[in-house]
Amino acid sequence: MSIPDRAADAVAALTLDQKAALTSGADFWTTTQAGDVPSVMLTDGPHGLRKQRRSADHLGLHDSVPATCFPPAVALGASFDPELVERVGVALGIESAIEDVAVLLGPGINIKRSPLCGRNFEYFSEDPVVSGVIGAAWVRGVQSQGVGTSLKHFAANNQETDRLRVSSDVDPRTLREIYLRGFQRVVADARPWTVMCSYNRINGVHASEDPWLLTSVLRDEWGFDGLVVSDWGAVRDRVAALAAGLDLDMPSSDGRADAEVVAAVKEGRIDERLVDRSAARVASMAMRAAGRAPVTAPLDVDAHHALAREAAGRSIVLLKNSDGVLPLSRDARIAVVGAFAEHPRFQGAGSSLINPTRLDDALTHIRAAAGPDVAFAPGFSLESTADESTRVRLRAEAVAAAAGADVAVLFLGLPAPTESEGFDRTGIDLPADQLALLDEVRGANPRTVVVLSHGGVVALPFAGDVPGILDGSLLGQAGGAATADVLFGDVDPSARLTETVPVRIEDTPAFGNFPGEYGHVRYGEGLLVGYRWYDTRDLPVTFPFGHGLSYTTFDWSGASATVAGNGDVDVRVTVTNTGDRTGREVVQVYTGLEDSAVSRPVRELKAFGVVELAPRESREVALTVRRSDLAYWDVRVDAWIVEGGRYRIDVAASSRDLRGTVEVDLDGDEVDLPIARDSSLAEVFAHPVAADALRAALARHGGGGIAGSGDEDVRMMLASFPLGRMSMFGLPGAAIDEVVVAANR
Ligand code: BGC
Repeated sequence: MSIPDRAADAVAALTLDQKAALTSGADFWTTTQAGDVPSVMLTDGPHGLRKQRRSADHLGLHDSVPATCFPPAVALGASFDPELVERVGVALGIESAIEDVAVLLGPGINIKRSPLCGRNFEYFSEDPVVSGVIGAAWVRGVQSQGVGTSLKHFAANNQETDRLRVSSDVDPRTLREIYLRGFQRVVADARPWTVMCSYNRINGVHASEDPWLLTSVLRDEWGFDGLVVSDWGAVRDRVAALAAGLDLDMPSSDGRADAEVVAAVKEGRIDERLVDRSAARVASMAMRAAGRAPVTAPLDVDAHHALAREAAGRSIVLLKNSDGVLPLSRDARIAVVGAFAEHPRFQGAGSSLINPTRLDDALTHIRAAAGPDVAFAPGFSLESTADESTRVRLRAEAVAAAAGADVAVLFLGLPAPTESEGFDRTGIDLPADQLALLDEVRGANPRTVVVLSHGGVVALPFAGDVPGILDGSLLGQAGGAATADVLFGDVDPSARLTETVPVRIEDTPAFGNFPGEYGHVRYGEGLLVGYRWYDTRDLPVTFPFGHGLSYTTFDWSGASATVAGNGDVDVRVTVTNTGDRTGREVVQVYTGLEDSAVSRPVRELKAFGVVELAPRESREVALTVRRSDLAYWDVRVDAWIVEGGRYRIDVAASSRDLRGTVEVDLDGDEVDLPIARDSSLAEVFAHPVAADALRAALARHGGGGIAGSGDEDVRMMLASFPLGRMSMFGLPGAAIDEVVVAANR
């Protein structure tokens, strides 16, 4: 018997009280046991397992079983590599299975709308295709081990300020094309066991109580057949939430929510079948998890640490490398400066905090590679209480170390307390004492390479002043070793920015509309999120979306695009490694449509792929742009529509580094719009039947001059006139009605 059938049978044997109890947690992390339905554990996530040991609630964040801390999403996404991400997912699934966890609470795929969101380190990108493709790979990996995932936070949860109440006020097209598109892709491609609804409201409605979001869109349109779980404490009105399609309310409410559900059924306010349905979904999930063969082998700490190191190395973005400053020679006299080299900042704070099995620091690994003589000076203190004399002394020591070296490697970043789940940042600058240190260090040694650690994006006003910048964002427990791997060229840097580095916070798309006030945040920038904003408005940026260098060089040639039988677009380009080391290039495919009927960003990412090439090796990279990804959300018909026309296809190394441009002609989808009295003359003349009917009517009633006029000015002037107003040109009301009837017949 299938699991859903067994679950339905098990639920049929339960009392109403038991069924209601199934739809909420037994405690902070486990579901309720009832009849044949076992209790199972759901826990964080996402970049490692956070299974708490003693204190059961969020107050015990720091006390979880040791687990491998893989690179958080901010870094992993930058690999642009679904194959790598899937392997990390497999490892996460294994660790969850060893600890008997049913569902790992991730991935978080919300869009980085503003660089200030305190939780951006937990999300992949400012782009929905990157978030969707990488998120789907993560889900596939974890679920391949019989462990479920929870796609979160559904939806439009793009800030921490007032996160349990704020309404994300976003227009329907933007909601679909930017904020829901990634979720839709993961649901369709990877079928996560669960989706976690977010805390916030969307256009005034709590996500947990929104039947449109949780049922019409998620289930009816996207075909989701799993379980909807609340974010922890997201449910305000349990009965409304159940009716909207929220199956499992977490954590436990000590029976209060269950009693409300039972009362609502008894008083006839909701149909008992709603309870049956959600209870059966919980039962299915629990039975599916319980059916997994127990994993008794101990965690292979070394193997997972090695994978964490590989993933971290592939998540480091080489932003700048001039005068051959990198990779470092093992024979060079190296000065390492910056407290983060010794005390790495490797993950973000909040519910995703992992207790790592071990922790690599960069200094140890740089010394392991280049010898114990590598000089080190912390340069600044990570204690905010350090006094001025300490700061001056630390800086002086750092300058002395840098001055005596061939190259200075300076570790800068955001101190841990400045960013976390639960609150947003107030700016994007690095701490002033670090910037002052940088000025002095590069004054003492112009061959200064900056290595960055941060969850949210930081401004880099010094980008023009130093020859080398490595962006490590947050690399997980093996980031220190991985940083050394990249610094010395043992690993070729191949990650790319999944988020634009803006010049100033004032330039960012949500500036002025973030984080809102009095319970509302207006998504005023609409579709123009991330690079869509900077590129469409042609604003300067410090480093564009998709940017990242390698130690080798690549030549791109022969871009082509053809429309396949199913309407997808096949894009090909040949990439050649023209340097003398093996490297990986990330091929990005952007599309645009000039003269579109709807406003569009100048360029939008639609596909990407990674290719590894030995020196002088050449390979043709083939990527598919799905026709569905070319669709815009048409608010007239509430549907995805592909507009017909000549699409520009840019194959590119970043959103601003186009390596080839080709065009394809696509047939559009039919949009069946009824003609009404309010239809404009332009719409009427674009409609084959209505146009003829109107011309005939005008000819009959003496207004033929308007329709028949070859006079372009007149036609354009009248184009926006509603059909119904044609009475002012002498067309009787009855004739207008006849046109409407004929058009819609
Ligand atoms: C977070 C979720 C997390 C849950 C359980 C919430 O506060 O928003 O991401 O999975 O807690 O810890």
